[in-house]
Amino acid sequence: MLAMMGRIGIQKIFLGILLIDVLVIRSVAADNAKDLKIWPLPVSVSYGHDRLYLGNDLELTTDGRMYSDASGILKDGFFRLLHILNGDHVIEANTFHFINSSLVIEGIHVVIASSGNELQHGVDESYKLSVPMQGNPSFAYIEAKTVYGALHALETFSQICYFNFSTRVIEVHQVPWTIFDKPRFSYRGLLIDTSRHFLPIRMIKKVIDSMTYAKLNVLHWHIVDTESFPLEIPSYPKLWNGTYSSSERYTMAEAAEIVRYAQRRGIHILAEIDVPGHAKSWGVGYPSLWPSINCTQPLDVSSNFTFEVIDGILSDISKVFKYKFVHLGGDEVNTSCWTSTPHISNWLEKKGLNESEAYQYFVLEAQRMASSYGYDIINWEETFVNFGSKLSRKTVIHHWLRGGVVQQATAAGFQCIVSNQESWYLDNLGTTWQEFYANEPLMNITKPKQQALVMGGEVCMWGERVDGSDIEQTIWPRAAAAAERLWTSYDNLAKNSTEVTERLAHFRCLLNQRGVAAAPLTGRGRAAPVEPGSCYKQ
Ligand SMILES: *[C@@H]1O[C@H](CO)[C@@H](O)[C@H](O)[C@H]1NC(C)=O
Ligand SMILES: *[C@@H]1O[C@H](CO)[C@@H](O)[C@H](O)[C@H]1NC(C)=O
Ligand SMILES: *[C@@H]1O[C@H](CO)[C@@H](O)[C@H](O)[C@H]1NC(C)=O
Ligand SMILES: *[C@@H]1O[C@H](CO)[C@@H](O)[C@H](O)[C@H]1NC(C)=O
Ligand SMILES: *[C@@H]1O[C@H](CO)[C@@H](O)[C@H](O)[C@H]1NC(C)=O
Ligand SMILES: *[C@@H]1O[C@H](CO)[C@@H](O)[C@H](O)[C@H]1NC(C)=O
Ligand SMILES: *[C@@H]1O[C@H](CO)[C@@H](O)[C@H](O)[C@H]1NC(C)=O
Ligand SMILES: *[C@@H]1O[C@H](CO)[C@@H](O)[C@H](O)[C@H]1NC(C)=O
Ligand SMILES: *[C@@H]1O[C@H](CO)[C@@H](O)[C@H](O)[C@H]1NC(C)=O
Repeated sequence: MLAMMGRIGIQKIFLGILLIDVLVIRSVAADNAKDLKIWPLPVSVSYGHDRLYLGNDLELTTDGRMYSDASGILKDGFFRLLHILNGDHVIEANTFHFINSSLVIEGIHVVIASSGNELQHGVDESYKLSVPMQGNPSFAYIEAKTVYGALHALETFSQICYFNFSTRVIEVHQVPWTIFDKPRFSYRGLLIDTSRHFLPIRMIKKVIDSMTYAKLNVLHWHIVDTESFPLEIPSYPKLWNGTYSSSERYTMAEAAEIVRYAQRRGIHILAEIDVPGHAKSWGVGYPSLWPSINCTQPLDVSSNFTFEVIDGILSDISKVFKYKFVHLGGDEVNTSCWTSTPHISNWLEKKGLNESEAYQYFVLEAQRMASSYGYDIINWEETFVNFGSKLSRKTVIHHWLRGGVVQQATAAGFQCIVSNQESWYLDNLGTTWQEFYANEPLMNITKPKQQALVMGGEVCMWGERVDGSDIEQTIWPRAAAAAERLWTSYDNLAKNSTEVTERLAHFRCLLNQRGVAAAPLTGRGRAAPVEPGSCYKQ
């Protein structure tokens, strides 16, 4: 049916779009957003009232002059789009006979301006997506600076497509479209915690897939903690003794596979090795890392072996985790075991350090080691609160606890990530999606210079009460509410979250259609639907 392919129509299409009566919205005002179903909302959208039909053999065409896609990142993204669009619907090819062939979209033409595909921090994620009405043949067009912008465009494209149960084909509604888009923040994170409960690799990959639907771009992997140490560290193999069981483990090769999988979807993996607190599990295989058998955290600050192990861990993970940053924790350090354990208190005395100075010494040593492997460092806010003036200015302060920390840290010249627990902790089931949506990372930060230091934010899925059985519905849809806050330009954000309920409900149903167990909007946290009814009303 879609026999004749050709590039001849392209010039005409761009002329054609100028002639069409288009409803133009520069900044998407709340009223007009009611007609849009895209989540998160783009920077600028114009759309019309016509419809086109997706051809059965949708093809990907590219202008390979700059970007060759040797890695296949774009091609794989396109195949994922086809998989998502076809979903579980059966496209009945013979119905195309009844459709005017000039209304059938035969492909997506992608032009990427840069040749590289390195997923740098702050990589250009912008894109332009257009679906003109008068093509012959019809195409959708994507322009992006990098392949990662193009992947976002494909996601947006998927959200303007609908399977029509009368025609039994996939339609693009509200044509013609012109969308310009780019993220507000370069860091749009989700934390998962594989220490409190192990998460199977397949589930981590599902979480990564779902992040791409909401345009989140950093998976903060809180790999190890007090409760278990699931990651293989070849330099110190007995760290693995601290796992829950012999099967709740990740080999380093499996970690590399997760990094690769995420990278091909435009997602950075931020590894966290939390020191000196939150590390009891390290001592199961190496008990000398504990101050004593009865007093097991924080890690023994007086022992050279402690720092040898940290160095070994950083050396091993730096071969696999290629994001610019590593997270070194530094939170909730209770130093009472240091002062109560004789060999450590003797060491403190000899060094002339009190316990808070020893905490600072530990954090700065770990930072120094991580820097030597090329990492920039993220620490939880306690490091800034306790000895901010001593931290390297390159440290990124991860806010979670006290009000005002982001103001103070940015005033002192530090970059920040916002994860204030009262609004962006997914494990707090009482926090509603409206509260996730309303949480503004730049709250009370008025100076542009300070605003520019807020890299973005992150929602945290701490693992005490989630595992593979319930993690998806605890993350979604609330993480999506935060994702719009982090992606969408400030002017386009709803001032009252009621305005976005319908669109978020639509996105939640879309997640369900794609096999993600996103919970209803009504009810708290991961509540079940309250009564029989349409997905769109839950
Ligand atoms: C198909 O659509 C085009 C453009 O809308 C129109 O010019 C043409 O007449 C239509 N053809 C038929 C057979 O309806
Ligand atoms: C499906 O297609 C039919 C026939 O073109 C149209 O009348 C109907 O409005 C479409 N349904 C939806 C939900 O768009
Ligand atoms: C650590 O695990 C290894 C292999 O399972 C075992 O041989 C060893 O005894 C364990 N060591 C400790 C301290 O638990
Ligand atoms: C640890 O605690 C046990 C039981 O409370 C006690 O018998 C033992 O002496 C303690 N060991 C050390 C090293 O303090
Ligand atoms: C620990 O390291 C320091 C500095 O590198 C060194 O002076 C000291 O002798 C070492 N201690 C032990 C017990 O190896
Ligand atoms: C610190 O730990 C000690 C013993 O491990 C405990 O008694 C004390 O309450 C803790 N302090 C805080 C502030 O949690
Ligand atoms: C540790 O020493 C510093 C001075 O170097 C002092 O400001 C601080 O209050 C001391 N902390 C404790 C807990 O004694
Ligand atoms: C912002 O400032 C107001 C008024 O001073 C204060 O009540 C609020 O807690 C502050 N919020 C944050 C996130 O700093
Ligand atoms: C948000 O809008 C709803 C519905 O229009 C209204 O009931 C509610 O009071 C508004 N909330 C705020 C904080 O303005």
